[in-house]
Amino acid sequence: MEGDISRSPGAVDKTNLSKYKTPSQDQNIDEMDENENEEILKGMMNLMSRRMPYIKLKDQYNVLKRLGSGTYGSVVLAEHKLQGKVMALKLMKKKTTKKENFLMEYCVSLCLSSHPNIIKTLPVAFETDRYFLFAQEQAIGDLHSIIVPQDGLPDIIVKRCAMQLAEALDFMHSKALVHRDVKLDNILIFDQDCHHIKLADFGLTRLEGFHISPLKGTVPYSPPELCTLEETDTLELDSSLDIWAFGILLFCISTGYFPWETAICQDSDYEKFVVWQTTGNYQKIPSEWKQFTWRALDMFQKLLAINAMTRSPAIEVQKYLSDPWKINSLKDNSNLQDN
Ligand SMILES: Nc1ncnc2c1ncn2[C@@H]1O[C@H](COP(=O)(O)OP(=O)(O)OP(=O)(O)O)[C@@H](O)[C@H]1O
Ligand SMILES: [Mg+2]
Repeated sequence: MEGDISRSPGAVDKTNLSKYKTPSQDQNIDEMDENENEEILKGMMNLMSRRMPYIKLKDQYNVLKRLGSGTYGSVVLAEHKLQGKVMALKLMKKKTTKKENFLMEYCVSLCLSSHPNIIKTLPVAFETDRYFLFAQEQAIGDLHSIIVPQDGLPDIIVKRCAMQLAEALDFMHSKALVHRDVKLDNILIFDQDCHHIKLADFGLTRLEGFHISPLKGTVPYSPPELCTLEETDTLELDSSLDIWAFGILLFCISTGYFPWETAICQDSDYEKFVVWQTTGNYQKIPSEWKQFTWRALDMFQKLLAINAMTRSPAIEVQKYLSDPWKINSLKDNSNLQDN
C-alpha cells in the first residue's frame, strides 16, 4: 500500500463516504451535566416548544427543489408564499426524531448563528403531520461536492477553508459546545473557491462534559479515544474531539482521501501513523504524509495528537497559513497573502 495513494481505503468518493453516515443519536439530552449553559438552552427550548406552530407545508410554502439529505432528514429549498422569501428548510421525520432533539438542534443553531462562518438559522420553526422543520439561509453546496477524489483542493483553497473553520470551531468551543460531526458534508459553501464557507448541522452538538457512547460502525473522523471505547463505557465530551475531526478534514481536502479508515491499531494506515508519532523518527513517516512540508506536518501533529489532552485549539492553524503545506505547492509559493 505504501506510496500507492490511489488505493487508499478512504478515498473521497460518494461510494466510500456513504459508509460514513453520522452515527445514530443514542443519547437523551437529559444526560447532560448540570450547568448554566444547559439551563439557558433548556429555557430556550421550552419557549420555542410552546411557540412552535402546526401547519400544512403546502399551504404556506412552495417547495422548489431538494438541496440534500442526511441521516436524520432532508433539506429543501422553499419559498414562503406570502412573503416571497426563499430559504432552506431542514425537515426531520417525526417517526425517527424526538421533539427535544429537534428543539436542541434548532436552539443551538440559533445561538451560534451570529458567527460569519456558521450557517445562519432563521427564526422560523414549525411542525407538520410528519415533520419537524426549521429554516436556514441557502448555500450552493457542501465541501464534499467540490473535492477532487485522490487529488484534493489547491493549497490556497485548503488554507482558506482551514482559517474559516478554525474560527467557527473556536467560537463554538468558547461557548463549551462541541460539534461532534465535523465532516465534509457538514461544511456548506457559498462560492466554488471557498472564499465563504460555513459550519452547519448541529444535530449532534452537545455541551462539554456530556457522556457519549461507543460508535456504531466505522467513522474515519473519530479520534482514537472514541474508536477504542469499550461497549459499556462512556466518554466525557471535550472540544478535542472536534479538533481531531478538523485535522482529518484538512488532510482529506488536501489529498482527496482519508489518512485511514478507523483510528485503531488494527488499521495498518493508522498504525504506521502511531509508530511515526511515538518514535518521532523521520524514516518512519508514512508515505501518505511525505507530500506535506515540515510546517504542515508540525500542524497536523498538533491537531492529531494521539493524547487528546495535548491537542491544540483549532485556532492554532492560523500560525501556519503563510507557509506552503503541500510540497508540490512550493513551486507556486501559494499562501493566503497572495490573494
Ligand atoms: N442551508 C443549506 N443550503 C444548501 N444545502 C444544504 C443546507 N443545509 C444542508 N444542505 C445539504 O443537505 C445535506 C444534509 O443536511 P444536514 O447535514 O443538515 O442533514 P443531516 O441529516 O443532519 O445530515 P448528517 O447525515 O450529517 O447527520 C448537507 O450535507 C448539504 O449538502
Ligand atoms: Mg449533515
